[in-house]
Amino acid sequence: MKHRQLIPILVLSIGLVLSCSDDPVSPTPVDYASIDTIVYSQHIQPIFDANCISCHAGDNADADLDLELWFGVQENSWHGNAVVPFDTNMSRLTRVLTESYDGTHQLQDGSTIVDMDVVHFLNRWIDEGAKNDLGDVLYEPVGQLAMVCSQDDGSIQAIDAASGNIVRSYDITKWGYSRGDKPHDVVVSDDGNFFFVSLIAANEVIKVTFEGEVVASYNMEIPALMSAKNGLLAISRFMNPDAELYSVVVLEQSTMQPALFTDGGTIDVGTKVNHGIAFTENAQRLFTASLPAGLIHNIDVGTGDVQTFEFAGNAGPVAMTVYGNEMLAVSGQMGNRISMYGLAGENAQLLHTVDVGARPWHPAFLGTTLWVGNNGDNTVNSIDTDGQVEYTVAGNGLSEPHGIATFETLDYVYVSSRNVGGTYEPRIPLYRNGEQVNQFVGTVCQIDATTGLIIKVIEIGDFGSGMTSAWR
Ligand code: HEC
Repeated sequence: MKHRQLIPILVLSIGLVLSCSDDPVSPTPVDYASIDTIVYSQHIQPIFDANCISCHAGDNADADLDLELWFGVQENSWHGNAVVPFDTNMSRLTRVLTESYDGTHQLQDGSTIVDMDVVHFLNRWIDEGAKNDLGDVLYEPVGQLAMVCSQDDGSIQAIDAASGNIVRSYDITKWGYSRGDKPHDVVVSDDGNFFFVSLIAANEVIKVTFEGEVVASYNMEIPALMSAKNGLLAISRFMNPDAELYSVVVLEQSTMQPALFTDGGTIDVGTKVNHGIAFTENAQRLFTASLPAGLIHNIDVGTGDVQTFEFAGNAGPVAMTVYGNEMLAVSGQMGNRISMYGLAGENAQLLHTVDVGARPWHPAFLGTTLWVGNNGDNTVNSIDTDGQVEYTVAGNGLSEPHGIATFETLDYVYVSSRNVGGTYEPRIPLYRNGEQVNQFVGTVCQIDATTGLIIKVIEIGDFGSGMTSAWR
């Protein structure tokens, strides 16, 4: 497709060269400040043509990034995003020009291959949505999306699950929060129109539109993981052993006010550090678990009654997920194992206990197969219904795995990584004032569930944490 569209452009430019060949032409410098409306073909493409396509064109384009057409920008490199609309910080396209020192985009002496007013102009184009001539924004946050929090960056990314491109990035400082307010987990409303973010350090949970507007918020102490089902939003507590908090919170998704069956929003379960949380599909039961006590609480959502049972051997229950109304899976970070429970009867019944990698973190089902990232040894395991480990996924990109989101029709599993230890090597090191700024960049790995292989490593902000799948 690229090549068919290229031919008329080539013919055109040859024509142009011929017609001008009589008088010597030297390009007049463009006065970027005088351009009111950026038109891609008039203002942006000529920059790429003059400075980039000698390397970034066609099938052999460097980094597989084709800058001959807007569609090439949209396709991105095979690594991930060159441009995230409205977000220059997430956009490699301009960052490599000022922060890479790789001798290709910025020379060793620090001089840039294009003038700084060109970089600023490209940034302005990105800030306005990286539009084409028709005014289309580069991407829209629609379709199947993998949502991920970059906890230490103070941002949330929406990734198109099919392509692995970041289609939006939401910066919490634009909503009046500080970068250190720690967005920890994200879930989506039943209607798919909003997402909820827990901000640990701001003691708030916010409700946001995909256009990036905060429409409601709820104040509570150290909110952490969330589960959203049947109009309800359940919120657990962050892992602070000193916090004297013996409850979890349940709100109405629509109003973000306390759910009727709660005690002013809270459900007292009698233990501290209730971190894992999950509704059944019909939201008739809510599960949570106390990490230090090693107890799982089975809450009747109609009455608020709590039944408690032991997470055998106290393996440190940290996170959980539910398959339909039938199965509960709990990860034990201290015991390096997952326990699976059947939910058919009154009480949960232990089906399997499965040894996985070190410190299993968030689990999620893809069909009936359970997937979990192991925070302590940079692997991901899949577990079948018989409780057998199928895959142990490993590879560059997995660096302290944390969150997870699954996509059944695509057969993809997305796993976020914190990379606090810097095990993952960024694809291009970026520097500011001589210091590398991205050695701890968080990642999301796109994993093919059929083969158990990492297809793509997407660089996000620092400390990839909670994830969820969205469909809109
Ligand atoms: C002399 C060849 C050359 C030129 C000219 C060049 N690049 Fe590159 N570019 C590369 C190579 C090689 C890579 C692979 C990564 C690396 O090691 O730097 C790359 C990588 C990139 C990436 C990162 C892709 C990814 O996803 O990792 C971006 C973005 C990029 N170039 C943008 C540009 C832009 C914009 C221009 C023009 C202003 C440009 N490049 C000019 C050779 C070039």
